[in-house]
Amino acid sequence: MPKEQSFAQRLIAWQQAAGRHDLPWQGSRDPYRVWLSEIMLQQTQVATVIPYYQRFLSSFPDVVALAAAPIERVVEHWAGLGYYARARNLHRCAQQIVAQHGGAFPRTAAELAELPGIGRSTAAAIAAFSFGERAAILDGNVKRVLCRVFGIAGFPGSAPVERKLWQLAESLLPETGIEAYTQGLMDLGATLCTRGTPHCPACPFADACVARREGRQKTLPEARPRAPMPERNATFVLITDGQRLLLERRPPSGLWGGLLVPPEGEPEQVLAARGLCALAQRKLPDLKHAFTHFRLTLQPVLCRVQAPPATGETGSAWLPLSKAAAAGVPTPIARLIRLVASAPD
Ligand code: ADE
Repeated sequence: MPKEQSFAQRLIAWQQAAGRHDLPWQGSRDPYRVWLSEIMLQQTQVATVIPYYQRFLSSFPDVVALAAAPIERVVEHWAGLGYYARARNLHRCAQQIVAQHGGAFPRTAAELAELPGIGRSTAAAIAAFSFGERAAILDGNVKRVLCRVFGIAGFPGSAPVERKLWQLAESLLPETGIEAYTQGLMDLGATLCTRGTPHCPACPFADACVARREGRQKTLPEARPRAPMPERNATFVLITDGQRLLLERRPPSGLWGGLLVPPEGEPEQVLAARGLCALAQRKLPDLKHAFTHFRLTLQPVLCRVQAPPATGETGSAWLPLSKAAAAGVPTPIARLIRLVASAPD
C-alpha cells in the first residue's frame, strides 16, 4: 500500500463516494436495529433481508417487545430467511438483555460477544455502528477482501490463517471514522470484490492488490483443502475350474449393484458357503481403483476347484474365462478376469 494514504483512508474515501448509504438500518445508532440487521445479514443477502427487517421491526419495535413475544411468533417472522437457530438465539439474546442488562445493550464488543448468537465479528460490527468502538470485523466477505488485497495464502477458515487475518484486520483500523470504514469493508466485499468475477477496475485498491497484480483473483482466498479420499480393501475370490469362472450377481443397491462380480470375502468361507473345495489357491497382485468418493484396493485370490455341476444357483453363473470379462462386469473386475484368462494357473 503506498504510504501517502493508508488502507483505511482509501476505504473510507471510497465508501463515502461509492458505498451504500440508504440501507434501512443505516442512519440509526439504535443497537437493537443494528443488532437485528447484523444477525439477519449473517447468512442472507441485503435484498432478501430488507422486507424481513421491516416486518420484524414493526411487530417487535424494541428489545423488550421481542423478549416478551412467544418464540413461535418470532420464528414465524423468520420463516423463509433460513438458519432458524438465528431466530432462537435472537429471542434468547433479547431475554438475556432484559433480564441481565436492564433492557440496555452492553456497549462494548467484548461484552456483546458473550451474548447468544453474537460472534466476534458481529459483536464488532454492532459496537462500531452503535457506539463507535474501534473494533475489527472479519466475516466471509472481509476475509476475501483481505486475502486478495494482501495476498494471504492458505484456507482462511483454518486456525492459523484466521489468526493472521484477525491481526491484520486489527492493524488496519482507522483512528477515526470506524463506521464508514466498517461499512466500506462490507460494501467492497458485497459489491466489487465479489466471489466470482471481481470488478477490479472500480476498486480503490486496484493498484495495490496482490491478487490483481498476480492474476490470482480466482485462487485467492484459497479453497478448503480437500479431505483425503477414504481407502477401502476388498478380497475377491476368482474361482475357476480351469475353463470357467464363477460370477455372482450383486444385490441391487450398493457398490456395483446388480452387476456380475466374483464372490467377495475370505476364500475359505466363500468356498465353504458354496460347497466347493480348493485344489490350489494363490494370491494375485492387488489392483487399485478410484471411485468418486473412495479408493478401493482389490485383493484378488485365484482358487482352482474341481469342475462344478453344470447348473449353478440362481444369481450365479459359471462363464467361460474367455468371455467373462465382456459379461457386463465392472471395469476393475474385467481387468482381473483378463489377468486370470491369460494365465489361469
Ligand atoms: N452485511 C453484514 N452487515 C451489513 C451491513 N451492515 N450492511 C450491509 N451489508 C452487511
